[in-house]
Amino acid sequence: MSYPTLLSPFQVADVTLKNRIVMPPMVIWKSGEDAEVRDIHRKHYASSAGPGLMIVEATAVSPDGKLHKNQLGIFEDRHIQGLSRLAGTIRKTGALPGIQINHAGGRSTSEWNWGLPPLAPSTDGSIKPDSPECRTLTIDDIKRIQTDFVAAARRAVTAGFEYIELHYAHGYLGSQFLSPLTNTRTDEYGGSLENRQRFLIETYRACRDAVGDSTLLSCRLGIIDKDEDGLSLEEGIDTACRLEAEGAPILHISRAHGVPDSVRPEGSSFDPLLHLAGKARPKLKIPVIGIGGILTPAEAERAVNKGVTDLAAVGRGILADPQWALKVIKDAEDSIHICRRCNPCFWYKTPEKCPSRIAAGNTI
Ligand SMILES: Cc1cc2nc3c(=O)[nH]c(=O)nc-3n(C[C@H](O)[C@H](O)[C@H](O)COP(=O)(O)O)c2cc1C
Repeated sequence: MSYPTLLSPFQVADVTLKNRIVMPPMVIWKSGEDAEVRDIHRKHYASSAGPGLMIVEATAVSPDGKLHKNQLGIFEDRHIQGLSRLAGTIRKTGALPGIQINHAGGRSTSEWNWGLPPLAPSTDGSIKPDSPECRTLTIDDIKRIQTDFVAAARRAVTAGFEYIELHYAHGYLGSQFLSPLTNTRTDEYGGSLENRQRFLIETYRACRDAVGDSTLLSCRLGIIDKDEDGLSLEEGIDTACRLEAEGAPILHISRAHGVPDSVRPEGSSFDPLLHLAGKARPKLKIPVIGIGGILTPAEAERAVNKGVTDLAAVGRGILADPQWALKVIKDAEDSIHICRRCNPCFWYKTPEKCPSRIAAGNTI
């Protein structure tokens, strides 16, 4: 076995993952306007077998928080049946079935939301909502969306997901509250760091109470903005520590509105994004999932051995070759079709143009 650390089992709270490879959430836009799971989703996740943890793509908690018209949803009970079959498909691969639940806030549009206007913490920050029809969340809206997160988390548990990740990264609603670039509120949800954290902490706490201790309730937390007037690393790490204090057993560390290159120490060959996990990890007692630019198993092994991260998420690498993890397990890494970073997959716009994926013989 060439990668003993990467392939060793890893314990998170009471759960043992069979290895330290994670398939991170990656939207494939294959649902219909009903937001339900299709056969193609099951095929896609089954064909990516091998990671110890597989996290289903961003799934909408509210009808007014969609990222795309063909995004998966978890905002009605009718979604449970399809999601349950999907969780079963993932479990059969030997992975822990996980799911990311999300509200897109000001990055949604009414076109995707059956005419419902998108909502954001504020609409006059230096990063504007994607659509001019976006309106500012009232306190009632905030409470309703928190209730939607709780209902979505309960549905995820009913469907059989054992890891649930609240999406607090990448400029969506959680990030929008946390970052001063998108939150100019003057009430208890804006202004000081504690106020900007309030939505995230309250929502986490409410979901935690709803799902109980047997589910790994995590967050994908964006801990920095690219713009130096935005969320600072210190503020992001403080938020991670507060989520740990709320009982998070693990955190998935990522960026908020972008990531500055300066977080990469001189001489390091790791992606700046991956270094964010390395910055947060020493401040936490719980393990972290790190992500960013991991192309080869050797890079993943080095990241876990060097203490940059506990678990190594491989995004585009697995899209390029869905058998990435299986080939590592079978000691067949030479046959991996390595991601070329050419990015037609980004946001799954033209995945059929991914040269590595074509070479790997994949048709989805
Ligand atoms: C096609 C595609 C879809 C993505 N969808 C999501 C998503 O649903 N949720 C999320 O948090 N990040 C999403 N991302 C970001 C990835 O999870 C990951 O953070 C990013 O690709 C960087 O990791 P990598 O360098 O290993 O690809 C997506 C990325 C790609 C390429």
